[in-house]
Amino acid sequence: MAANIIDGKAFAATVREKVAGHVARLKEEHDITPGLAVVLVGEDPASQVYVRSKGKQTVEVGMNSFEHKLDADTSEADLLAVVDKLNNDPTVHGILVQLPLPGHLNEDLIINSIAPEKDVDGFHISNVGLLGTGQKSMVPCTPLGCLMMLRDYHGSLSGMDAVVIGRSNIVGKPMAQLLLGDSCTVTIAHSRTKDLPEVVRRADIVVAAVGRPEMVPGDWIKEGATVIDVGINRIERDGKNKLVGDVDFASAAERAGAITPVPGGVGPMTIACLLANTVTACCRANGLAEPEGLTA
Ligand code: GUN
Repeated sequence: MAANIIDGKAFAATVREKVAGHVARLKEEHDITPGLAVVLVGEDPASQVYVRSKGKQTVEVGMNSFEHKLDADTSEADLLAVVDKLNNDPTVHGILVQLPLPGHLNEDLIINSIAPEKDVDGFHISNVGLLGTGQKSMVPCTPLGCLMMLRDYHGSLSGMDAVVIGRSNIVGKPMAQLLLGDSCTVTIAHSRTKDLPEVVRRADIVVAAVGRPEMVPGDWIKEGATVIDVGINRIERDGKNKLVGDVDFASAAERAGAITPVPGGVGPMTIACLLANTVTACCRANGLAEPEGLTA
């Protein structure tokens, strides 16, 4: 069976269109323009690319983009002061501090200094706790994007067996919480999981988020399962640089019912969901109804 391809690039475009529609309405009916502030410390090349892309897409959907680029040797106190200023700026509805931060800065401390209602990454400990207890929160962008694609493909996820491979705070753990919230039976697998192939073979939904190129072969996938591949791994093959996921796409696509490709699957959804979270944060800050279909 050849799997259906879940086109994350096209889906992300529809999310951005929805966001742009809400932004236009906020401007027209309430004279409010949602604003997203991104803070980048240092010159990590990959982070610079992400931040540029976030800024560009923020402007494209009609929102204000505020970029704060700080030197790599910025002190913790100075970074905390920047975050504090953004927390108190009413034109800023979302704040994202690009990770990783240089080694001398305490990431947990910085993330937890962001006002939880402006924490569009959903990394603040308050948002982690709210998500874990099924309360309204800001939801991390990558898992939110995965959930949107799964809901779009399946409708209801209720009663499905889901296996999340990877236990990171950014993807694995919040993904598991979201699937549980949609009434899946959830297993979180990781590097110490016993008989990982058998665990994965039970799953109706497999979310792979381990960061290891093509670690999941097709024969781990149950016939007809849905495979969401969060991995973005750069490898060299036949003398060429290539992007591959955590799943061996070719063999998995022969068994899966549906699968996300890499590139063009989960990747484009992350920034689209960041924009969605910013609109949601803006609506909440102004006591307005939240956009439908853009939250968990
Ligand atoms: N670095 C890589 N991905 C992310 C992300 O989603 N949020 C933040 N803040 N930093 C990142």
